[in-house]
Order: sequence, then C-alpha cells, then structure tokens
Amino acid sequence: MLEIKKYGEKVLRERAQEIKDINGEVVELARAMVETMYDAPGIGLAAPQVGYSLRLITVDLTVGEDPSKLFILVNPVIQEKEGQDLDEEACLSVPGISEMVERPFRVLVKGYDLEGKEREIEAEGLLARVFCHEVDHLDGVLFIDRLTPLKRRLALKKLRKQLSRV
Ligand code: NI
Repeated sequence: MLEIKKYGEKVLRERAQEIKDINGEVVELARAMVETMYDAPGIGLAAPQVGYSLRLITVDLTVGEDPSKLFILVNPVIQEKEGQDLDEEACLSVPGISEMVERPFRVLVKGYDLEGKEREIEAEGLLARVFCHEVDHLDGVLFIDRLTPLKRRLALKKLRKQLSRV
C-alpha cells in the first residue's frame, strides 16, 4: 500500500512527467496504485497522489467489484470534451471537502494500457468526471482550483482545519 499525499505537498502541484517506457517499475506502481485506491476507498487515483510525478492514472467506479471496469492509463489525454455536468466532487488528497464542480458531460480519453497498447475510452457522467479529475492531477491541478474564488476560500479554510486535526 502506498501513502496518499495530502494538500500542501509539492508533488501534487507539479506537472507530472510523460512515461517513456512502460517497464516493470511502472507496472508495479500501477498495481500498487490500484490496491491503494481500493483500500482508501476511492474511484480514481493519479500517480502524483502517491508521490510519483508520472503520467499514470487508475480509475474504477466499482471500487474493485467488477474487474472489467478498471482502467489503468499511461499518458492519458482528454482528446474531446462535450456538454456540461454539475456534480459533487471530492479527492483523497483533499480530505473532508466535497464541492459541486462543473465538468464536461462526455469525454474521449486516449492513453496506453500497461501492455503499451493504445486505448480510447468514451466516458459520460461520473466516469467522464473522474477521468477529468485524474488528468487534472497530472497537471498539478486540484478540484478546489475549479471552484469560484469565494467557494475556494471557504473550502481552503475548512481544509486547513481538517489537516491540522491529523
Ligand atoms: Ni483527486
């Protein structure tokens, strides 16, 4: 199991590196991320959240219930966005905060699986939201950055209280 980095840690604000070679270490990291995501439990995780500044994400809306619903994507890119969807969002790195965030309703995500095969995923609703959220992590962006300035200020205040309690 990997430690989940929390708001304030530098790695969450860096632009993650492209993965040039899907070697054994990358595969091992992906597996450990999936375990960490299920254990949290969460429906998505990005490598910077476990301290690795690499473009690698894991997504599973079923949290391990249905293995066919697990996505592991290397160098994911949101290729197309369509529509709008407003829903509540949270993040394992931003504990205790959930806020309404606007995201595209439908996206086309491109990336590579662990065998190096190109993958194209069309996602809608919550799945589209999670892909957008995780790809944001790879660019050092957190969901609270997408709130209005006032809501963001309030969320940060609450977050500081949460984090000082630990
Ligand atoms: Ni997150």
